Amino acid sequence: MRHPIVVGLQYGDEGKGKITDTLARQADYVIRFNGGNNAGHTLWLDGKKLVTHSVPSGVLSSHAINFIGAGCVLDPVAFAKELQDLVAAGVNLGPERLKIDFRTHLIFPLHRALDRAREGAAGAEGGSSIGTTLRGIGPTYSTKMDRIGVRAGDLLSPDVEVRIEKLVKHANFTLKGLSLPETSLSENLEVLHMARSLISKHVSTEFAPFYNEILTKKCVLEGAQGILLDLDHGSYPFVTSSNTLGAYAAVGTPFPLRGLGPVVGVSKAYLTRVGNGPMPSELNNETGERIRQNGGEFGATTGRARRTGWLNLDELRAAVQVSDVSTIVLTKSDVLCGEKQVSVLLDGQLRHFDGWSTLTEGTKLSPAFEAYVDFIEKTVGIPICAIGTGPDREDIYWRHKDYSFWPEH
Ligand code: IMP
Repeated sequence: MRHPIVVGLQYGDEGKGKITDTLARQADYVIRFNGGNNAGHTLWLDGKKLVTHSVPSGVLSSHAINFIGAGCVLDPVAFAKELQDLVAAGVNLGPERLKIDFRTHLIFPLHRALDRAREGAAGAEGGSSIGTTLRGIGPTYSTKMDRIGVRAGDLLSPDVEVRIEKLVKHANFTLKGLSLPETSLSENLEVLHMARSLISKHVSTEFAPFYNEILTKKCVLEGAQGILLDLDHGSYPFVTSSNTLGAYAAVGTPFPLRGLGPVVGVSKAYLTRVGNGPMPSELNNETGERIRQNGGEFGATTGRARRTGWLNLDELRAAVQVSDVSTIVLTKSDVLCGEKQVSVLLDGQLRHFDGWSTLTEGTKLSPAFEAYVDFIEKTVGIPICAIGTGPDREDIYWRHKDYSFWPEH
């Protein structure tokens, strides 16, 4: 059996949480393979909004095991708060339902200080900052690459405090150079001690945790952010610091290559972006503002207003190809209901479509909306298997009902 990988096809915030949650209902494992609490996945439970950041989107399926893979980074403080919020919503995630790979790197206050410093310095030098989420994600991947990071599996090791001390020195070297307040050893050790009691019990020490599991258990691999924010293949340098491509699931879990199945790409019917970087179809006008308000386009993580624009089919096609996407889930088309005209960017030019007031008529798509969907399919060359019709868990129109997310071969 092969197992689906859900990825965003734009700049994050495409609504991946819903399709992951839908697949999770049939799955034994939901696995995150990249990023950290820079992500924000919004789930709706009985009309109640739940936002997860580090925890995979399988939380609403009481039987699914949620696995935070080796390619992720984890902030113990944010993680503690997230668990608390989930418990308050009635979702209990004991160590048997939530596992963290021992190779996952941990985020400390020093990483957040470095993120703030780098963003501030870029702005002060007259350059453009990236507009990061300031969650310390980039610096944590940097210390991983420098081979001085602290991993979840290190929490119980006797020399971990010495390692933190080294990390603090490393951070303060940079902070001092920029004349910024230093990070203290005690604030970082405090997080370490909290992490020991909170995280250690969730740590999975298996070297190849899914080598045999894939034969009998159904898995869903959940990517964070979007293809256009991929460190290598996105709009560099305005990207995140991990790989968001479906292929990265193999490394970032780790997951056996032979078990990787269809890449399910999620795209909004329009485009949003938070942070800096080019956006040729951006709408800096009333239409853009209307889409922002109707779509609730404010960051689930930082609350920042998202930039809005028309769907960019040049980018969508590139994202589909570079991540070898098999099918698309189109989300938030309902936000465009009532627009007289809807446009897309193709070959650098805007193309215009008649708007729609409703997505469906009986059991069919409304003709104007269907023309839009058909055009996207034809342009990017793969089918749109499902369409999100509203925020709730059940608001999905299946265009290809028999799509097999767990094919045998
Ligand atoms: P970082 O991941 O915090 O380093 O931020 C780098 C860029 O990725 C910034 O433009 C962020 O706004 C963007 N970004 C990171 N995570 C997400 C996400 O989950 N949704 C949307 N944008 C994101």
